[in-house]
Amino acid sequence: MEDSRTAATATSPAMSTPGLTAKNLHHQHNTSLSYNFIVIITLSLVSVVVVFAIFLIVVMFRRLKSVEKHNGCNESGSINNSTSSRFIARTTINFESSPDLKARCLYVGYKGVQVFTYKELEQATDNFSEINVIGNGGFGVVYKGFLADGTMAAIKRLHRDGKQMERVFRMEVDLLSRLNCPYLVKLLGYCADQHHRLLIYEFMVNGALQQHLHCPGNQHRPLDWGNRLIIALDCARALEFLHEHASPTVIHRDLTCSNILLDENLQAKVSDFGLAKMGSDKVNGQISTRVLGTTGYLAPEYASKGKLTTKSDVYSYGVVLLQLLTGRVPVDIKRPPEEHVLVSWALPRLTNRDKVDEMVDPAIQGQYSKKDLIQVAAIAAMCVQPEADYRPLMVDVVQSLIPIVKSSNSISSSGSH
Ligand SMILES: Nc1ncnc2c1ncn2[C@@H]1O[C@H](COP(=O)(O)OP(=O)(O)OP(=O)(O)O)[C@@H](O)[C@H]1O
Ligand SMILES: [Mg+2]
Repeated sequence: MEDSRTAATATSPAMSTPGLTAKNLHHQHNTSLSYNFIVIITLSLVSVVVVFAIFLIVVMFRRLKSVEKHNGCNESGSINNSTSSRFIARTTINFESSPDLKARCLYVGYKGVQVFTYKELEQATDNFSEINVIGNGGFGVVYKGFLADGTMAAIKRLHRDGKQMERVFRMEVDLLSRLNCPYLVKLLGYCADQHHRLLIYEFMVNGALQQHLHCPGNQHRPLDWGNRLIIALDCARALEFLHEHASPTVIHRDLTCSNILLDENLQAKVSDFGLAKMGSDKVNGQISTRVLGTTGYLAPEYASKGKLTTKSDVYSYGVVLLQLLTGRVPVDIKRPPEEHVLVSWALPRLTNRDKVDEMVDPAIQGQYSKKDLIQVAAIAAMCVQPEADYRPLMVDVVQSLIPIVKSSNSISSSGSH
């Protein structure tokens, strides 16, 4: 349309103007043709530029989105960095509450978990040499090893005892390969070569909390009050994640001081999911099951009737908190009879302002404010309530601990100036 109109206006003046030569006409015709040509070229160029600009905008927008997403994932990786520096600059401790935890702890696919051959693990551990043994638990022997890419790992070779071993192995692989949370020990890989069953974990340089609290004279310095509080918060977050954010809910069932491992910065991570139960196994809001776990940590309703709920983990957590406070083991028959069972001995003292000081581990005497101690003791008392319904949710424990950790952190950093 546009072209035909331009052509009409170009020819009519020439026809009506006398004295115009054929050359002139030809010249004018050429000029109008080249004018049309320029217009067409310009229009095409403009449209190409516009399309290209739109394309660029779309690409940049997509990139921006993916960077935002990536940052979210990085956050989950970077928490280790932020927490890793917390003993250097303790203001970097993460005090955020649940929404932050949600962002950091994700239920992911079977990503990043490698499958190893038995031979590869023989090489990693120098033929499962005695020198490399770092622990010996109920389900197998743990070795320190170096994987082919140089990564240091803890390699657990499970005992060969049929069904139980197979269940433990499957549960660990199934859960740990999908749960991605900075407060849970990472599973790097597994081996199911013939009858061999091995689990390969990230190496936790500072070993189990158990060794720090209850093995006097070993290579570890006693944990101070501040460290103990942060460890308590890390573990509470691990359970909060399992109970509130994993889907289906996971009940750990074996939270003990030997299943809490510490990295090079004393960040605590929960390990050993072999006995875990999924919330999907629930009947009438609870799971009826065989009683498994560790003596001294079992909730009364679980120990006596096999009733398992997330509140069973809350009880075990309460026992761990008592160990952090008192430095005592859950059952100690070397003590006078009334002090054999930690919970029974501690409960009346936990809520007594005058007696609460008496039960604190002598190794941390004088490191805390009375107010903080009373609050932590109150949390512990709630967690070990004999009646499951009276125990708090882990999300509430996290929320209660955050301000106490904050205040103890600010006291210790102002003290260090
Ligand atoms: N990922 C790890 N990094 C470093 N050391 C580890 C790791 N996993 C386990 N260990 C060490 O091995 C020891 C034994 O662990 P294991 O889980 O086999 O037994 P346990 O925790 O003592 O008892 P349970 O059989 O009840 O879990 C731990 O106490 C710890 O010192
Ligand atoms: Mg263990």
